[in-house]
Amino acid sequence: PRSIWLSRHGESEFNLLGKIGGDADISSRGEAYARALPDLVRSSAGDLKLTIWTSTLKRTVQTARFLKYDKLEWKALDEIDSGICDCLTYQEIEDQFPEDFKARDEDKYNYRYRGGESYRDVVIRLEPIIMEIERSENIMIVTHQAVLRCIYAYFMNVPQDQSPWMVVPLHTLIKLTPKAYSTHEERFPANI
Ligand code: G3H
Repeated sequence: PRSIWLSRHGESEFNLLGKIGGDADISSRGEAYARALPDLVRSSAGDLKLTIWTSTLKRTVQTARFLKYDKLEWKALDEIDSGICDCLTYQEIEDQFPEDFKARDEDKYNYRYRGGESYRDVVIRLEPIIMEIERSENIMIVTHQAVLRCIYAYFMNVPQDQSPWMVVPLHTLIKLTPKAYSTHEERFPANI
């Protein structure tokens, strides 16, 4: 592919409450990002006809809804499944499941939420997505922090076991352009 565009969903109601997982709507700030996105994309992609891939969760679909391109929803782009910890805050996880909280802190890449996934699991379920990106052009992906960390690490040639700590900010469009020996990165923060 020539370039790949990546974005997290706009801020969600769960982001505001500090809760993980779930299927919340975007907040009013997230909505402002959704509205700013078409201009942001145009400033970095010009007249290219992109194809937008989202997860199946409301916050990514809502974030992409003003982009006037073909869209595809992928279950494989859904956020890391946090199992029994879904819809809790980190404080609630620490209080209710202290052993899990500690185990995750000690090995975040391999820790698998009970009834859910690890980062390692996410990397494996993303393999078909990565293959599809590799043979496509002009793809823009609107997805979630954990998933974006894994996709970003892959294209930036960062070892996957470092992906759980990568910084992928909200309300920022990332454009990656793979070159022969490295990937060129540009970031476009939204002015919202
Ligand atoms: O809901 C999950 C977050 O997007 C990923 O955050 O893996 O750093 O807990 P974490």
